[in-house]
Amino acid sequence: MEQVGLTQTLRSMIQKVCDSSTVSFAVSIDEIDNLFHIENELNIYRIIQESITNITKHANAKRGMIAIEKMDSSIKITVQDDGKGISGQKIKNAFSSSDGFGLRNMKERVRYMNGILSINSEVNKGTTITIIIPIQENGKQT
Ligand SMILES: Nc1ncnc2c1ncn2[C@@H]1O[C@H](COP(=O)(O)OP(=O)(O)OP(=O)(O)O)[C@@H](O)[C@H]1O
Ligand SMILES: [Mg+2]
Repeated sequence: MEQVGLTQTLRSMIQKVCDSSTVSFAVSIDEIDNLFHIENELNIYRIIQESITNITKHANAKRGMIAIEKMDSSIKITVQDDGKGISGQKIKNAFSSSDGFGLRNMKERVRYMNGILSINSEVNKGTTITIIIPIQENGKQT
């Protein structure tokens, strides 16, 4: 990560997943090097990795979309699929404990960075996860 930067590291990881998956992903990653402390770069990496892994593991999707947009004082991450969706109850379970660790960890990482995570999902219509992470806290790196 430190040698090639977060942006390239993310693009490579995503490319690898795309190559080995039947889901066809549209990918758009803005340059986001040197905006975050290294620990938060790792958090961002894990968040994106988990959301893509969930699509390949659970969604039964044909198409997916991964976008990272750099805005003035935040980045916006959007991960979308057209798969089977997640019921509200399942999302609740995932956040409270019983089901896996992935979504709960994701939420925890986002919270740690003072970000916002929202899951928009309808059964059989796919899932969209939107995450906004602020870049600056009191003039310091997040
Ligand atoms: N993109 C998705 N489409 C459909 N279902 C999903 C999607 N992402 C998650 N899910 C459902 O939500 C549940 C919880 O996801 P979570 O990532 O927390 O756990 P997991 O993937 O089952 O296990 P782990 O992440 O610990 O390996 C999953 O078991 C799956 O049923
Ligand atoms: Mg998971």
